This record gives sequence, C-alpha cells and structure tokens, in this order.
Amino acid sequence: MEKKNINLTLSIYDGLAELPDQIKTLFKEAAKARDKAYAPYSNYLVGAALLLESGKIVTGSNQENAAYPSGLCAERTAVFHAGANYPDQQIKSIAITVKTSKKTINKHAAPCGACRQAIAEYEFKQNQDIAIYLRGETGKIHKVDSLHSILPLAFNHKFM
Ligand code: THU
Repeated sequence: MEKKNINLTLSIYDGLAELPDQIKTLFKEAAKARDKAYAPYSNYLVGAALLLESGKIVTGSNQENAAYPSGLCAERTAVFHAGANYPDQQIKSIAITVKTSKKTINKHAAPCGACRQAIAEYEFKQNQDIAIYLRGETGKIHKVDSLHSILPLAFNHKFM
C-alpha cells in the first residue's frame, strides 16, 4: 500500500495594498459585479471577476430564482460568459468577493463544488493554471495558484 499527500498552498495577503495593481482592479470589478447580484432569497451577494489574457475583465454575479436550483452562482455566470464570448482567450485569474446586509463578512469566500468543477473545465481546456483570489467583503485575501489545487482528483475528459 502506498499513501500520497496532496498539498494545498494558500497565499494570504493582509489587504488589497499587498496585491499587484491588476488584481486590485480585478477586485474592484468583482465588487461592482457583486453589488449588482440578484439574491433576494439568500441576501448573500457574490461577485466574480475574470482576468483574460488580453487584459479584458469579465464579471458575473449570482442570479437567484424562486425555483431555487434554477439560479446560478457568480463564478459560473462569469466563466460561462467568458467561454461564450471569448472562447479563444485564456483565463489568467479570478477574484471573488461576497457581501450580505446581515453583517460585514471579513472571512474569505469559497467557490462551491459545482463552480470548482465548472472552472476546472476551462483550466483543462486551456492547459494553464487559473489563479483564484478569495475575499469576504473586507479582510484578508486568500490566493490559490490553480483551480486544481482546490479540486484534487477532478473529473475531466480524460476519464471518458
Ligand atoms: N453562491 C455563489 O454565487 N457562489 C458560490 O460559490 C457559493 C454560493 C451563491 C448562490 C446563492 O445565490 C447564494 O450564493 C447563497 O448560496
């Protein structure tokens, strides 16, 4: 029997000031998108901003529905928009930020499993890592260098 460890490296930044300008801008756009979320049922607003290789920024927010499963998370709204409109451009980074009127969230967000799987598809497609930056409304920023680091053993086309 053999055991293997899979390691996750998190880079933790105290605040936006520690990040490169491009990522500060990405968070600014993610916050703008978040504030346009349609989340009347959860009151949990999520914004995602994608940086494409051309420098173009694509954003998305969560879009809820009275028939709950018909809604969509911010991350998938954003990556599907990029996939549909910029199919040949690599996604370099994603910034995600959240907010609710109930309290100030200062703990980083975390993409749900379905969003990780959706982002993984594009990482496999482009064969280049996608860096993911996570933040609450305020507070520290957590970064992972790739989607696959937070979805080990992901299902992909090679299994089929
Ligand atoms: N949500 C996202 O937009 N992204 C995630 O990764 C987690 C959850 C949304 C879905 C729903 O509109 C609200 O947050 C509460 O679950």
